[in-house]
Amino acid sequence: MAVRLGDEAPDFTADTTQGEIRFHDWLGDSWGVLFSHPKDFTPVCTTELGYVAKIKPEFDKRNAKVIGLSVDPIDSHAKWAADIAETQGAEVNFPMIGDQDKTVADLYDMIHPNASDTTTVRSVFVIGPDKKVKLTITYPASTGRNFDEILRVIDSLQLTAGYSVATPANWREGEDVIIVPAVSDEDAKEKFPKGWKALKPYLRVTPQPNR
Ligand code: BEZ
Repeated sequence: MAVRLGDEAPDFTADTTQGEIRFHDWLGDSWGVLFSHPKDFTPVCTTELGYVAKIKPEFDKRNAKVIGLSVDPIDSHAKWAADIAETQGAEVNFPMIGDQDKTVADLYDMIHPNASDTTTVRSVFVIGPDKKVKLTITYPASTGRNFDEILRVIDSLQLTAGYSVATPANWREGEDVIIVPAVSDEDAKEKFPKGWKALKPYLRVTPQPNR
């Protein structure tokens, strides 16, 4: 069954390149990014895993753990990691799940039979510290993902979890945000002491509150 926003992220036990994990225990109080790739020793996946390894400090800063997955076994992941280091200039510094029996792929609906009935598509799940699914994205095998976008969404999710705001199109950390319509002007005076600009009664723009 599809995993949808707001659902509890399915828990599982899996073999990874860093040992067996129980997913929810491994996440602890962190945010999580679970992402699947179709196959080891393939070109697009090689660039993706190298890029995620390079920007892992950015996930760490956001208290977010990353974990990859394919239906290849962990000894294959480990051998491939050497190619990733050689060609991408980054050691894979996060666990990769070997999901040979497709347990996790099935739980998260990562196999889309009309795309491929044997390999996982490029799924991304962002999971909050409450273990609820906050973001799902699905890319086709032929398109490498934009992991900077995942960081941007985590910034938005972490901000909007703490304040009554939403983030506009293409928002980046530090830019103005939108006061959610559920907050009255009366309440907004208290919550947003820096004030706001009302372009329309429903479109009130305010400086990012935690800065
Ligand atoms: C790739 O990672 O390069 C890839 C994987 C499966 C199908 C097409 C491309």
